[in-house]
Amino acid sequence: MRNVILIGFMGTGKTSTGKMLAQKLGCAFIDMDVKIEEEAGMSIPEIFAKFGEEHFRKLEHELALKLSARRNAVISTGGGTVKNPANVEALKKSGVMVCLQANVDTVLERTQNRGTRPVLDKEDKGDRRQAVEKLLAERAELYKQADFAVDTSELSPLQVVEIIA
Ligand code: S3P
Repeated sequence: MRNVILIGFMGTGKTSTGKMLAQKLGCAFIDMDVKIEEEAGMSIPEIFAKFGEEHFRKLEHELALKLSARRNAVISTGGGTVKNPANVEALKKSGVMVCLQANVDTVLERTQNRGTRPVLDKEDKGDRRQAVEKLLAERAELYKQADFAVDTSELSPLQVVEIIA
């Protein structure tokens, strides 16, 4: 089976949908963020704090290249994986790329907790909605590189899985 690669902004449901989709398809599930954390032996906020975003992006890029060589997996990317065109190119060659979308209210609801998403925390100068809107606008074009998109705002993870499957 070709891979299914889930891209999309933070809080669009890449991880929860990905796990269920892999179960349905009977294939492996790989969460890039979890893999990076396991390999680094520390959490993503810790990687950002200790080594900076650039280092995280390097680890993310190396992993994207590695994963693009395998098949039979649902791969959940990080929200910023698409910032590197080489990641998109490599991952797309390995399968079908699906973008999960959500409206700003839904993203806000799902990413309220500070300390877990350093990119959003950095952008948040006291107005989290503004931070989300700014990052979403900056990245809108990048997420359009998917083969198709699903808006998850009004759907349960199971419904999203059915659509993709
Ligand atoms: C990031 C999103 C995060 C994680 C890192 C950077 C981003 O993944 O990779 O904190 O730049 O949007 P999720 O989309 O799973 O939260």
